[in-house]
Amino acid sequence: MEYETISKPDVDSLAVRPNLDDYEGIRSGFDYERVIDELDGLPGGGLNIAYECLDRHVAAGRGDKACILWDGKDGRQETYTYADMAKLSNQFANVLRKLEVEKGSRVFVFMDRIPELYAAAFGTLKAGCIIGPLFSAFGPDAIKDRLEDSGASVLVTTPELKAKVHEIRGDLPALKHLIIASHNEPPEVDDGELSWNDLMADASEEFDIVQTAPDDPAIMHYTSGTTGRPKGALHVHKAVLGHYATGKYVLDFHEDDIYWCTADPGWVTGTSYGMFAPCTNGVSSVIYEGGFSASKWYEVIQKYKVTVWYTAPTAIRMLMKAGDEVPKKFDLSTLRYTMSVGEPLNPEAVVWSEKAIGLPFHDNWWQTETGSIMIANYPVMPIKPGSMGRPMPGINPGIIDEEGNEVATGEEGDLAVRPGWPSMFRTYWNREEMYDSRFKNGWYITGDRARKDADGYFWFVGRADDVINTAGHLVGPFEVESALLEHPAVAEAGVIGKPDPVAMEIVKAFVSLKEGYEPTDELKRELRRFSRERLGPGIAPREIDFIDTLPKTRSGKIMRRLLKARELGLDEGDTSTLEDD
Ligand code: PRX
Repeated sequence: MEYETISKPDVDSLAVRPNLDDYEGIRSGFDYERVIDELDGLPGGGLNIAYECLDRHVAAGRGDKACILWDGKDGRQETYTYADMAKLSNQFANVLRKLEVEKGSRVFVFMDRIPELYAAAFGTLKAGCIIGPLFSAFGPDAIKDRLEDSGASVLVTTPELKAKVHEIRGDLPALKHLIIASHNEPPEVDDGELSWNDLMADASEEFDIVQTAPDDPAIMHYTSGTTGRPKGALHVHKAVLGHYATGKYVLDFHEDDIYWCTADPGWVTGTSYGMFAPCTNGVSSVIYEGGFSASKWYEVIQKYKVTVWYTAPTAIRMLMKAGDEVPKKFDLSTLRYTMSVGEPLNPEAVVWSEKAIGLPFHDNWWQTETGSIMIANYPVMPIKPGSMGRPMPGINPGIIDEEGNEVATGEEGDLAVRPGWPSMFRTYWNREEMYDSRFKNGWYITGDRARKDADGYFWFVGRADDVINTAGHLVGPFEVESALLEHPAVAEAGVIGKPDPVAMEIVKAFVSLKEGYEPTDELKRELRRFSRERLGPGIAPREIDFIDTLPKTRSGKIMRRLLKARELGLDEGDTSTLEDD
């Protein structure tokens, strides 16, 4: 079905004039390097993301402004000003100094969305260390892979989550300090643990930020590929230019905005757009600790008078499912701008949101590796529902063929971006070769397939690989297969993404059993429970099928493509590399 283009609003009629009021004009004269002129830089030289996010506002007399409006699961509401966050992060930086954690060390957080998470992340950056966030729903195997690979020496977690860490701590010799933080009572700590509250109580609120250079590493997010375990995409302090500029031009931040990013900091959207973009632009952010519920979410918008909202297609589809009557019960009139990222946004969702909440969702595209938004719909541009929009100023994407040459307008190819933007990842931790393999003929190859139309709008087609996108989170099939293989009954496992109307894809596993095991429903349930415990509910397979043998290439690689084709009843394609019976 063809969807009508949503016409461009008259800029002068908008209540707030967009920062990007002339797309062509701003794009043509844009030099990403000059964005630094709008930031402050560290006093005495250098660049540090945390300084640009917090202390520069304090230095400019904006310290009393609300930085975080925290809405706890238990109904508590707390406000943290920019000055509060600057002090808390200074304290945590002092904690790291006292523990003799050196510049460049990896400090990971494995926490729910409590204020301490934000203090730890900013404090880590101030201490010149690399912050690595882990999603709080991860299971022990998922945590272990990431901590082991990164060689993290510090982990901050909570009393509720620490049991998962203790299961694997013996496998992590590099992990020197386990800090337990609680937003409730001061935590009771066991042997081998440190209390956040005790450490912070002794730490000064003053800290001289480590003089990090623009190209010093700052943050790392693990992301899934087709082969091997998740890889750590490493970003540097200079990425803050991208966070700031996209915050200004894509999220269209203005001084009085109350912003809500629904993503968890365990994923890159929750750091780039849950922390760095809003803070560098000095707006106030709602941090909602709770989970999804349609009425709860609308209530958050009403309660905090949210003006700018950034969320994801799965959530939007769940809101659609909850029905048009629910938003009518709330006052959503403060909203002026809504955006979506992480998965293809169905055109129906754009049309629905215009009707149900009075605003269309603006889709945008980027990935862990790009660090900030690359392609977007903007307030001043017509929206073509189903399209990801047009390139951010300073970003040059293209659609290329296998040789790395641009294809004709309208043709499908690999979505690629000309390297060199400030928030581009600088390596995959310890996997330089894999990093190099992502570049070809002067392009960074994103792993997505797409098309560009005659108006310069980009349209997502699909992934070029077997990576699964479930509810906006990438899952590598290898990680799930490895966990299943740890179960004594499993001989082989092949994992695919099965299309799903709400989550886009769900993780589905095909399992063959070892001699002596019966393919019963009970065993299926046992395998589901086993993998959920090892990996966490977001990664573990939602569906499991038993099959006698898995289709493999002659070299023994499981043909996930074929499993998927069979599951969907599609043409099985070229099977010439299948093993002989
Ligand atoms: O396949 C694309 C999909 O999500 C991938 C990036 O996921 P991740 O590295 O976890 O980064 C999350 C931050 C956005 C992309 O390679 N994706 C992201 N945005 C869109 C999308 N697919 C379609 N449309 C989008 N707007």
